[in-house]
Amino acid sequence: MDHITLKNGIAVSRLSIGTWPFSGVKLWGDSDDQEAVRTVHAALERGINTFDTAARYGDGRSEEVLGRALKGRRQEAVICSKVHTAFLGYDDVMAQCEGSLRRLGTDYIDLYQIHWPTPQIPLEETLRAFEDLERQGKIRGLSVCNFGPKDLAAAGDRPQLNQLPYSLVWRIIEKNGALAASEAAGIPVWAYCALGQGLLTGKFRTIEDVPMGRRGTRLYSSKWGEGRHTDGGYEEEIFPFLASLRQVSDKAEVSMQALALAFLKASPAVGSILMGVRSVKQLEENLTAFETPVPAGALAEAEALSAALRDQMGDNADLWENENGGRMR
Ligand SMILES: NC(=O)c1ccc[n+]([C@@H]2O[C@H](COP(=O)([O-])OP(=O)(O)OC[C@H]3O[C@@H](n4cnc5c(N)ncnc54)[C@H](OP(=O)(O)O)[C@@H]3O)[C@@H](O)[C@H]2O)c1
Repeated sequence: MDHITLKNGIAVSRLSIGTWPFSGVKLWGDSDDQEAVRTVHAALERGINTFDTAARYGDGRSEEVLGRALKGRRQEAVICSKVHTAFLGYDDVMAQCEGSLRRLGTDYIDLYQIHWPTPQIPLEETLRAFEDLERQGKIRGLSVCNFGPKDLAAAGDRPQLNQLPYSLVWRIIEKNGALAASEAAGIPVWAYCALGQGLLTGKFRTIEDVPMGRRGTRLYSSKWGEGRHTDGGYEEEIFPFLASLRQVSDKAEVSMQALALAFLKASPAVGSILMGVRSVKQLEENLTAFETPVPAGALAEAEALSAALRDQMGDNADLWENENGGRMR
């Protein structure tokens, strides 16, 4: 497994593990903690050292499960957690970090991230708290998620990474300037929802296949009543796109995941690909896909199909909200 070295010297694996599915919330359905622990161990064995979690995921359950999995193996892992938007004031950040450290069972977090930016609290106040945590040795680096061009300009070159939603089914960060601004600032993109929350594994062929709890993002219509937006969604565009992508994958004899991951591997802006997995089986399948050589012609076809999909979408890259054009600015 290849790694990239961040500005502060931390080596992050090119493929990393998202542990939101470990939280067992409605969106993901129940989670098996023992299998989650086995999955973390299998990832470490295969050279994946970087794990993403958040205080918000299952009200801390994801952090607890990850902490349990890394007991006795802390030094092998790069732990990245997040403070939620509601707690970005100085005192709140300090208190939230203590909570995350306790749940993770560690005395330091490698990368502490702002989960989403907010205009309610001055960014400088939040970053002052992060910098104090760094001085105290409680975090090794500060990082951000969902920062668009305006927020990135305010943050300067201080963040180590910028977590952004990026995949063959969600390329809006190419349109709203977030991808280009991250690249220009020298901040590697940490691509999340890389598998489109399961769509790019090929297992959902129609909207009926998508579990109801997962129909909350702006990929899907607000009529399902699962999300926080009021959009019509992109179901009419996505499922025909997936059918065409399947044809490319069949013809090239590579999996759809292999196409999805090859697209992100080829992007010079992407430092690491964040992949949610809930079992050793999914991890192994996705690792195989990551390592599969994809013929250039097939990748070009997949890229062209997804560019056409991107062009049918607006320029709000926020996967969840549409109020005031979304939260990514
Ligand atoms: N910063 C942010 O605001 C933010 C937002 C969202 C996510 N994230 C992070 O990004 C991570 C990844 O995003 P994500 O988990 O939402 O989406 P994802 O990686 O696109 O999809 C992950 C889900 O796809 C399914 N899957 C994965 N591999 C599979 C396989 N081989 N076969 C069949 N199904 C498979 C699994 O769900 P099922 O088995 O249930 O189908 C898995 O939980 C999260 O865990 C989280 O750490 C960050």
